[in-house]
Amino acid sequence: MITVLRLEHRVGRDKRMTTHCALAARALGADRMVYSGDHDGSMEENVESVSERWGGDFEVEHVKSWKNYLKNFDGKRVYLSMYGLPIQEKIEDVKNFEEDICVVVGGEKIPGDIYDYIDIQIAVTNQPHSEVAALAVFLDRFLGVEGAEGGFEGSVEIVPKERGKEIKES
Ligand SMILES: C[S@@+](CC[C@H](N)C(=O)[O-])C[C@H]1O[C@@H](n2cnc3c(N)ncnc32)[C@H](O)[C@@H]1O
Repeated sequence: MITVLRLEHRVGRDKRMTTHCALAARALGADRMVYSGDHDGSMEENVESVSERWGGDFEVEHVKSWKNYLKNFDGKRVYLSMYGLPIQEKIEDVKNFEEDICVVVGGEKIPGDIYDYIDIQIAVTNQPHSEVAALAVFLDRFLGVEGAEGGFEGSVEIVPKERGKEIKES
């Protein structure tokens, strides 16, 4: 099971980024996203409505304390940060974990004591970019494209085309 933890969401300022973290996590094969910070019912509804139409069992849940969540997480905690070890050197170690993993991504400000709660810090390049990009690259390297394909069985499905758009509705 792959859980994504998005740290310290702020209603208003982070709505798009946190929604995109959830949608990227869902599309690329994670099972659930938990988030700390402000509880945001409308962000949760947006993600749930995508899951309802497009299928799958992806869940979003608010947690009061990211520290408690990580402290009690039964598995390995992988923190994505530009200060980490290169993904290309460490992804095989992560694949060899036998436990569930929690992939932690930050927002604008990162709590200084995050390092007390994680097992490994992984960088997707050592350049600054975004939590959505880092998460997408990590999940793609961890699961491969297969992780992102199939298993959704929603009421809408795209018929891939070279040009134009076709959606099958059932
Ligand atoms: C806008 S960045 C936060 C930057 C923050 N000021 C800092 O010093 O880390 C938001 C999140 O994107 C992710 N991120 C950004 N660049 C990354 C990189 N090169 N590798 C992995 N994750 C990255 C991290 O999870 C980070 O917490």
